[in-house]
Amino acid sequence: MRRTLGIIIIVCNAWWSVAVAQPASPLRSMELYSNHCTACHTSQAHIRENRKATSLTAVETWIRRWASELRLDWGDEEVKAVLQYLNAHYYKY
Ligand code: HEC
Repeated sequence: MRRTLGIIIIVCNAWWSVAVAQPASPLRSMELYSNHCTACHTSQAHIRENRKATSLTAVETWIRRWASELRLDWGDEEVKAVLQYLNAHYYKY
């Protein structure tokens, strides 16, 4: 019985630390972006006059496209983190 309780506590702790780890910190989103995305295009791509992404949804679509192109296996958490980062720094939609 004690053992079971111990296991339950461990599982809850693990769940809690995952739950509170979200959303990703600004530092992590910057890391995600600079690790995987700046190899090709610099931030210039996002501030050019004829930018392709003309809405927040469009930026998200681009991020998903690139993440899958690069087979990064990003989930919603990573996509949203990078979206937040790009929008805060460049797009400002
Ligand atoms: C293989 C090179 C390459 C990599 C790696 C890459 N990109 Fe891009 N990205 C491009 C090019 C080239 C364009 C412009 C495409 C066009 O103009 O049609 C672009 C365009 C974009 C745009 C739209 C820019 C606009 O005009 O508003 C976004 C957003 C973007 N990329 C995000 C990302 C993210 C996020 C990653 C990392 C997951 C990433 N890219 C990785 C080459 C790359």
